[in-house]
Order: sequence, then C-alpha cells, then structure tokens
Amino acid sequence: MRNLSETNLTDAVIAAMTQAKDPRFEEVMGSLVKHLHAFIQEVNLTEPEWMAGIQFLTAVGKKCDDKRQEFILLSDTLGATTMKDIINNRRPPGVTEYTILGPFYQPDAPELLLSEDIANGLPGEPVVMKGCVLAPDGSPIPNAKLEVWQSDSSGFYDLQMENMNSSALRGVFHTDVKGGYSFRTIKPAPYPIPHDGPVGQMLTAMGRQPYRPAHIHFMLSAEGYQPVTTELFVAGDPYLDSDAVFGVRESLIVSFVRNESEEDAQQFNVSNPFYTVDYDFVLQPL
Ligand SMILES: [Fe+2]
Repeated sequence: MRNLSETNLTDAVIAAMTQAKDPRFEEVMGSLVKHLHAFIQEVNLTEPEWMAGIQFLTAVGKKCDDKRQEFILLSDTLGATTMKDIINNRRPPGVTEYTILGPFYQPDAPELLLSEDIANGLPGEPVVMKGCVLAPDGSPIPNAKLEVWQSDSSGFYDLQMENMNSSALRGVFHTDVKGGYSFRTIKPAPYPIPHDGPVGQMLTAMGRQPYRPAHIHFMLSAEGYQPVTTELFVAGDPYLDSDAVFGVRESLIVSFVRNESEEDAQQFNVSNPFYTVDYDFVLQPL
C-alpha cells in the first residue's frame, strides 16, 4: 500500500475492504469506489471542482429536515431513483408499469365507497375515473385495493395546504366483484418539485426545468398478485417529455376526455362540463 499510482490506487482501496463483515456491503462499496475513481479520472476533476462537489453535498445535507429530504430529491433528479425502480420492478409487457412513489403518499388515507368524490370540496374541473383491475389473462380481480392520491388544480397536495386539517384528494377503494373501480375527483395540475435549495440550483445550472407533468398516483394490491406503485399522466401535458424526475411511461399516459352532456353529468353526479378517464390496471400474479 505504498507508492500508489493512478493505475493501482483503485485496487488498493478495494483490497483494503477484504476484512469487511458483510459481503454485500463490500461488493457495493467496491463498485462505488471503482466508479468514483473512474469518474474522477474521466473528467480530470480539478481541486476547485472537488471542493465545489463537497460544498454541494454539504448544502444538500443541511437542507434536509423532518419535512424536506433533499438527498431523495437529488436522487430523483439525477434519475437514480428511477433506475433503481426500473431494475427492481421488471415485469412482462402488458402488466401495469411501476413508476416513482414520490413524497406525498400517506398510508392512512380514508376508505371510500366506489364512485365517491376524493376532492373534499376543493375547486377544479370534475373528473370521473373508472376502469377495472385485471389479471394478465383479462380476468377481473375483485376486492383489489386501490390507494389514490394527487395534487389539486394548482399543483398542491393536501399535505402542503395551510389550514387543511383533513385529507383531500386521496382515498382507498376496493374493486367490486367484476374487478371494477370508479371515483370522482378534479383534474390535477403540473407542479414543480421543491427547487428553492441546492438541487434547484443544480437544475438551473443544468439548464433544466423543475416541473413534473400532471398525474394521479396509485398504489394497487390484491391477494395473490404483486403490488404496484404507479402514476397516470394527463395526455397533452406540456411536461410529459421533460419530467424533472424521469417518471413518465408511455403506457401510463391517459386521455382526459371532455364531456359536456348534462345527462351524463347528472348520472355521474358532477357539474358540467367534466372529464372522463377510463383505465384498466393489470397486475402480475405472484
Ligand atoms: Fe405527485
């Protein structure tokens, strides 16, 4: 371990870990060292650049508190979260794709009956969302659990709203005997990820914008099937091809179809005009 050079330093650092007790930890750290050294060599990292990196990571840490997790934001905006999600959620074609969970999930959302409204009185353009939860062979999955959460028409979640003491725009539904689900809501809006910190400065320096396209989050589970966390994106949204966290999948883009029929509005118990969204989820058997 003396006279280390550009060519043998990486091996020396990896070899120094042979007494590590956890072999997986040794594997992960060894790979990290290998890629970190290769990165430093590839870009010919200068002294000021190394220091700028240290200061950036320090600022990311200082921005974290019990409500704000700037490191997850950093992972999300670098695509690391989505890469981790993709390799851990490989599924056959035709099965509903996984996408990013995001920071606004709440495990204790209210249980609602099918066709109920999750908007809790918040203003917006009414939406009737319906469809089925199916197995890959098209057979219905009764009693599948659908957890739903989304932003309001200004891009804010209930957790971000001042004076909001109850939950809104979130709920838990169970499919009927035919695998069907339905609920009423309002059209979500695009929103920026928190960009008033070091990650926001990084996005600016990268020439990137901080918005996510409008979407509704879902977490689906059913006995005998793999659960899936996903989002449905509003077709036509201006940010579909520049999602700040790289979560958009073609199969998850849905049309919000405008309906101006007074008769239909009365049938669905919404004001006129409104939007309908039809989407079937497909779960992979265990
Ligand atoms: Fe979201």
